[in-house]
Amino acid sequence: MNRWKKMEVNVKAPAKINLSLDALYKREDGYHELEMVMTTIDLSDRIRIRKIDEDKIVLKASTGMLPLDKRNHVYQAAKLLKNQFQITQGVEIFIEKNIPISAGLAGGSTDAAATLRGLNELWDLALSLEELAEIGAQVGSDVPYCIYGGTAFVTGRGECIKQIADIPQCWVVLVKPRAGVSTASVFGALSFNKIEHPDTSGMIQAIEAQSYAGMVSCLGNVLEQVTIARHPDIDRIKLKMMQFGADAALMSGSGPTVFCLCEKYSRAQRVYNGLKGFCDEVYLVRSLK
Ligand code: C5P
Repeated sequence: MNRWKKMEVNVKAPAKINLSLDALYKREDGYHELEMVMTTIDLSDRIRIRKIDEDKIVLKASTGMLPLDKRNHVYQAAKLLKNQFQITQGVEIFIEKNIPISAGLAGGSTDAAATLRGLNELWDLALSLEELAEIGAQVGSDVPYCIYGGTAFVTGRGECIKQIADIPQCWVVLVKPRAGVSTASVFGALSFNKIEHPDTSGMIQAIEAQSYAGMVSCLGNVLEQVTIARHPDIDRIKLKMMQFGADAALMSGSGPTVFCLCEKYSRAQRVYNGLKGFCDEVYLVRSLK
């Protein structure tokens, strides 16, 4: 036996934004058939996992805002993996939370994905990313993408991942309005009569061609109108972002987080400083490779 086997791992769990989010139709299983372009940003949680003597999964977190039981995606992911491979080694998982919760940034999904990657290493399972993504899909629709990260064209319920080129380097300013949003309720209120579909293939072409202007002109999210109808402040934040000089602004996922892109750092700083004046939660980060 290798005496130097790892006793703990520390895994980075980056947030994602949707550059494009399109819903094609509602499926018989109740989920929506989606076409999305997602990319990771430099705003990350940290998942620290260590082996413990007792055969159980113990969750701890840096915030009191998270459930630390089977309602947590991290717990569900660990439990699935543990059961599937009949692991009797217990773990303590510490979630260092930096990504806003219930925000449209896949915070819970990226934590679950990082947990799967971390346990794969700690328990020596040697599973491929594809296998981990398959397990992750049982936890949530965004988990498979979060297993891979980077920039990807994501289809199906969220489980078909095709990685594409990194987006042209830019800066992302995000605002998390106070309201939390339920993804199920936003999808439930989506009406196919009123949909304005984003140009997802145009977005992919622009990214492949490394055209920042093309990428900015193709930003779109079908869920935006649904969430804006409930939280009009999203529209006001978008307007402010544009007034402060952003190149384009959009809601991420089912919201309510709004992000904008800026090619130049000085411009992003201006937008960030302007928004700081009247929004509590504002972030300025890099796009991530
Ligand atoms: O898969 P996940 O639990 O993250 O999804 C949350 C909710 O979002 C689902 O219960 C469903 O209502 C909605 N959803 C959907 N179509 C998808 C993904 C999610 O309708 N492709």
